[in-house]
Amino acid sequence: MKLLEIRGLEIHYVTDDGIFKAVNGVDLVIEEGEAVGLVGETGAGKTTTALGILRLVPSPPGKIVGGEIFFAGENLLKKSMKAMRKIRGAEISMIFQDPMTALNPTIRVGEQIAEVIKQHMNCSKTEALSRAIDMLSTVGIQPERAMEYPHQFSGGMKQRVVIAIALACQPKLLIADEPTTALDVTIQAQVLDMIHDLQQKLHTSMLLITHDLGVVAETCDKVAIMYAGEIMEYGTLDQVYNDTKHPYTKGLFASIPSLDKKAGRLQPIQGMMPNPSDLPSGCVFHPRCPRASEICKVKAASMSEVSGGHFVRCILCENGDMEGK
Ligand SMILES: Nc1ncnc2c1ncn2[C@@H]1O[C@H](COP(=O)(O)OP(=O)(O)OP(=O)(O)O)[C@@H](O)[C@H]1O
Ligand SMILES: [Mg+2]
Repeated sequence: MKLLEIRGLEIHYVTDDGIFKAVNGVDLVIEEGEAVGLVGETGAGKTTTALGILRLVPSPPGKIVGGEIFFAGENLLKKSMKAMRKIRGAEISMIFQDPMTALNPTIRVGEQIAEVIKQHMNCSKTEALSRAIDMLSTVGIQPERAMEYPHQFSGGMKQRVVIAIALACQPKLLIADEPTTALDVTIQAQVLDMIHDLQQKLHTSMLLITHDLGVVAETCDKVAIMYAGEIMEYGTLDQVYNDTKHPYTKGLFASIPSLDKKAGRLQPIQGMMPNPSDLPSGCVFHPRCPRASEICKVKAASMSEVSGGHFVRCILCENGDMEGK
């Protein structure tokens, strides 16, 4: 069953310097229990999409200007702010991009987790604290450390606490925005493994935001590739990794080192992501696309389903002449 269904989401930041079109018609579905990776370069609109789901886009300057977001069958964009506060943390929770700032330095770690539990689960302080301690051991931290303050924890441990807070009320959907970017590589792998295990164990759906295709390969069932506010390719890992269709996705794969292919030089994608206040005409990727033709400069591509559940936004796929190239 569909847990989250985003249709045609559009989010703009309206500033004195112009209108920044950060999210431009995003469609995305997350089934119950499924983990979907949202991948794209910096500025693609990943965090803005996530904040949109929670109705936390800073306003002003941000504004959701179009679309629908259905969560468990209900349109979140029609909910009151009071109703949204109930949903946040309890049904949908988010690990923010800069998790190190998410903890309050003056409150003991156990109490911080208990606070969230108490708010959403309608239980006593003692009960909340005992659940908080259980949650700490779930994320691999000894119960006695619940009495300590965040500064007594290492970076990896703080991140585990942030995850404990996010999962404390057993949300149906976890949005993890670059949850491991601030950690060193070995800790990154541990924390990702843990998120993955907990997600499976608790049957939580997950939207994992990252710029790292390797991380998605380890943790997700499906992947959406985002560029300049649009989803360019979407499908199962097998479809997108082994039957890559979009020239942008191909560019992303060509720019990461591979152990099993005899590497020539890495091929970074030429040029830069367009400024969202001045998006190109036609297909937004055309100025950087090695396969662009005249029509791409004027005609935006629509999503085509190239095989069951594998969607691509490219005119070459609309025409069906991408095969074998
Ligand atoms: N408060 C804001 N005011 C104006 N523009 C904003 C604001 N927040 C984000 N933007 C713009 O919206 C676009 C998308 O930003 P967003 O943070 O969603 O990207 P992202 O894909 O999460 O990038 P990153 O990988 O760097 O986290 C960017 O061009 C950004 O400059
Ligand atoms: Mg971001």
